[in-house]
Amino acid sequence: MGATVPKTVMITGVSRGLGRALALELARQGHTVVGLARSQEKVQALMAELSQGDSASSSSTSSRHLLKHLDVRSDSSMKEFAKLVVEERKIPDIIVNNAGTINKNNKLWAVPAEEFDMVIDTNIKGIANVIRHFLPLMIEKKHGIIVNMSSGWGRSAAAEVTPYCASKWAIEGLSKSAAKELPPGLAIVALSPGVVNTDMLVSCFGSNATLYQSPEAWAPKAAMMILNLTPEDNGASLTV
Ligand SMILES: NC(=O)c1ccc[n+]([C@@H]2O[C@H](COP(=O)([O-])OP(=O)(O)OC[C@H]3O[C@@H](n4cnc5c(N)ncnc54)[C@H](OP(=O)(O)O)[C@@H]3O)[C@@H](O)[C@H]2O)c1
Repeated sequence: MGATVPKTVMITGVSRGLGRALALELARQGHTVVGLARSQEKVQALMAELSQGDSASSSSTSSRHLLKHLDVRSDSSMKEFAKLVVEERKIPDIIVNNAGTINKNNKLWAVPAEEFDMVIDTNIKGIANVIRHFLPLMIEKKHGIIVNMSSGWGRSAAAEVTPYCASKWAIEGLSKSAAKELPPGLAIVALSPGVVNTDMLVSCFGSNATLYQSPEAWAPKAAMMILNLTPEDNGASLTV
């Protein structure tokens, strides 16, 4: 694992794509993963995979990792999850707010209201729900890093993904503003992951998604960057 001390890293959206690859990479390096996503089946499959690599035990019930299926849009579920994390003594050193969704390619006025809401509720309010229940735990411990997954489209414009761009520009603003509220010892940053071949990229790029790096190729670079963040990075907009 190199010189890094083992950390507890919470990742939202671990069932596929970037979140799953990052969870596997961090666990491989010896870190503890606290994770969540909506798909119970996929969360269970990841738990089994993470536990296999758990040299400490062969049973998933005593794994050092903690995974739950839940929806970031639910404030009450997030509150309960934070309670469980405290009970299990797994308050994260780092939180990666990775769960996200994108609208189907469409001009803004053709995006149904429900789909617009889904993007905003997941990408913006989901992150606020995590921060509401987990940041106070970090403040109490006087340390913690929050990484909010942004996008190149949180810093530039693109046609047909306007709801998504709006949500990611919001995350840049949310991160920079919240950074001004943090006490010393903590940091909140916005991170653009670059371009990676996931379900989300297929949704907006179609078959061209295959031209881009795999989540497995991306994860070691992202892990190194995230593990090396310090309070001095507070308020930064970074790119993997
Ligand atoms: N791939 C790229 O090139 C790229 C570029 C820029 C930014 N990003 C950002 O990186 C992050 C990950 O993207 P990705 O490409 O890995 O996307 P992805 O393959 O579509 O995966 C999204 C993940 O988020 C979870 N998720 C979605 N809605 C959720 C909800 N309401 N509650 C809990 N979990 C939820 C999904 O799990 P369930 O469906 O099981 O809930 C899944 O695990 C996103 O924030 C995205 O905007 C990606």
